[in-house]
Amino acid sequence: MQWLRKHLLTIRELSVDEITAALDTAASFKEVSSRQIKKVPALRGKTVVNLFLEPSTRTRVSFELAAKRLSADVINISAPASSITKGETLKDTAKNIEALNADFIILRHSAPGSPKFLADRLNASIINAGDGSHEHPTQALLDVFTIREKLGRIDGLNVMILGDILFSRVARSNIWALTKLGANVTLVGPSTLVPREFEEMGVRISYKLDEELEKADVINLLRIQHERQRKAFFPSIGEYTSVFGLTLKRFQRTKPGVLIMHPGPINRGVEIANEVADGARSVVLEQVTNGLAMRMAVLYLTNNAQVGTRPGATPPEVLPMKEDEPS
Ligand code: CP
Repeated sequence: MQWLRKHLLTIRELSVDEITAALDTAASFKEVSSRQIKKVPALRGKTVVNLFLEPSTRTRVSFELAAKRLSADVINISAPASSITKGETLKDTAKNIEALNADFIILRHSAPGSPKFLADRLNASIINAGDGSHEHPTQALLDVFTIREKLGRIDGLNVMILGDILFSRVARSNIWALTKLGANVTLVGPSTLVPREFEEMGVRISYKLDEELEKADVINLLRIQHERQRKAFFPSIGEYTSVFGLTLKRFQRTKPGVLIMHPGPINRGVEIANEVADGARSVVLEQVTNGLAMRMAVLYLTNNAQVGTRPGATPPEVLPMKEDEPS
């Protein structure tokens, strides 16, 4: 098992071995969450700062919980409650956080490349928690973890990513992860939101959802990212739903064992019908559960790289806390 990276900035830069190391390590940490005492001492004495300068529910909460389960100290900073509102730059904010001996900065930011910008300037490990429309590496890792857990493999599966691809960091990170692991990826959506340039990433593109429904082993739905769109990319929400929404009628034409995925937040009745989002083939909430295990794995692996643990020292030592051990 190989993971030598101090930072996690993109899936694009990861090797298949590194992705596999993350998946296998997350499986160990998922077992930790089933124990009566759900904490391990792997990051004791370390400080993790969640620097979230865009809104988040799932990613921020699961990184906080992951760091606490690994016995780290955790600080949460959000944009409205920070001195960024007074004009402080990202670099100065991060340098001040590092001056307080932060070992990890988990960054969510609207600017593509902002995690790399910090990684080039700070000693702390930087984890990308979503940078604009660029990448969301831990989301892709938890998504492929969920597919592998449910279907037993990634290689050879037909995975449809449906919706607003153009503005989606989740789509980009998923395309990198899935194609590296041998999946056949098809992007589906309006031509304005699924430009042909994506074919250069090794995927198929289709603008006809109704012709693709029977082929998919996995359908990963994406919401329309209104916050990043500066013009109209389709005539109306109602028209989008009628052509690209996963309605109950369309769902009934999918394979019996299809996995329905969504990174959240869901826009019910727009890209997905209630009956599908809450149905037996939906793994949307299992993705959230797996996000905790994956974020524990990423913190654990990047910490090992930071402290220079020799390669091959994994699988992880996830020793339980002793009953009377201080956290
Ligand atoms: N999937 C995801 O990134 O959700 P949040 O924006 O709630 O973190």
